[in-house]
Amino acid sequence: MNNRQGLMRFEHTVLFVDDEVNILKALQRLFRQESMNVLTASRAPEALEILDKTPAQVVVTDQRMPEMSGVDLLSSVRERHPDIVRMMLTGYTEINMAVDAINRGEIYRLITKPWNDDELRATIRQAFDHADLKNEIKRLEQVTREQNFKLQDLNRNLEGEVRDRTKQVADKHHELRLAYVQTIRALSAAVDAKDAYTRGHAERVGVYASKVAREMGFDKEFIERVYIAGLLHDVGKIGVRDFVIAKPDRLDPDEYEEIKQHSEIGARILEPVDFLADVVPCVRHHHEWYDGCERGYPDRLKGDMIPLPSRIILVADTVEAMTSDRPYREALPLEVVVAEIQKYSGTQFDPMCANAFLRLLEAEGEAFIKKNQKFDIYEFIEG
Ligand SMILES: [Fe+2]
Ligand SMILES: [Fe+2]
Repeated sequence: MNNRQGLMRFEHTVLFVDDEVNILKALQRLFRQESMNVLTASRAPEALEILDKTPAQVVVTDQRMPEMSGVDLLSSVRERHPDIVRMMLTGYTEINMAVDAINRGEIYRLITKPWNDDELRATIRQAFDHADLKNEIKRLEQVTREQNFKLQDLNRNLEGEVRDRTKQVADKHHELRLAYVQTIRALSAAVDAKDAYTRGHAERVGVYASKVAREMGFDKEFIERVYIAGLLHDVGKIGVRDFVIAKPDRLDPDEYEEIKQHSEIGARILEPVDFLADVVPCVRHHHEWYDGCERGYPDRLKGDMIPLPSRIILVADTVEAMTSDRPYREALPLEVVVAEIQKYSGTQFDPMCANAFLRLLEAEGEAFIKKNQKFDIYEFIEG
């Protein structure tokens, strides 16, 4: 065959298959001036061989050939090279077979012999356009797929980055809150240090009170406020003479009046600190009695008028004091503490807070008042 295989001068290649050599020659002549590679084969197996070696966009075949019909050839082409545009150039007598193949989607177009030169040239050009279009669609699909993959990657990275940053911010926030609590702890510890017997008192009151607040079902923010108020409840003792605070004997009335000042002094000390604004009233009122009697101070508030954290702290404060050694007595046993809470529930203590405390004491026993508990308020309220 007079093929110019391997030349590939042009972008487009068409393969004509016909067992009549004269027809192939006529076709070569017809397309000589066209800017495309023209390959020819006179037998179906040869055509398949050529297509395996040489990329072509269009194949045009006769129907009636000795070894293999055109329809069968195009079926094989379709199987091996699905992108090649398949056409049939055939006489009227074979049209029925070809129409059938067209209907099955095997063939792009049918040209009848004898052909009209201009029409055939135009049809082949259209076939190349069709092939180009299919290629372009395929290429775009590939690009889209790749871009989708890249986008998915990008999304995954972004999600990771957002997660990391969010965690960093949360960690920083946690760090800051801890630093804030540590500062408050240091302040309250300084106050407790005025008297060897009350060392750790404020911390323990804060811990007990926050446990009661959680037992009562309050939210994180409230539990934190109760804890901070517990830490600071006696900060006003800084303004009371050491001699009065550490006095092992009974206080005389003047000394008792002086020590009663500590709740007001504490509130005044904390007042200028903006972020402790909601803690100030809790400190001021932590010695009010629930029934409003004159033993409470400084304002003799009654019932719900007393801030709830103050009511909780009062029970915690009492329990802590009773379960700690004093110069004039040893720590009291738990039964005595329970009896005392029950006795003063409704007068000194808000029954709701007293009951919550009793529930905790019953559930946890001695462990509840264990000294030197390691306490991270944020671990506690998150956990
Ligand atoms: Fe106090
Ligand atoms: Fe206290």
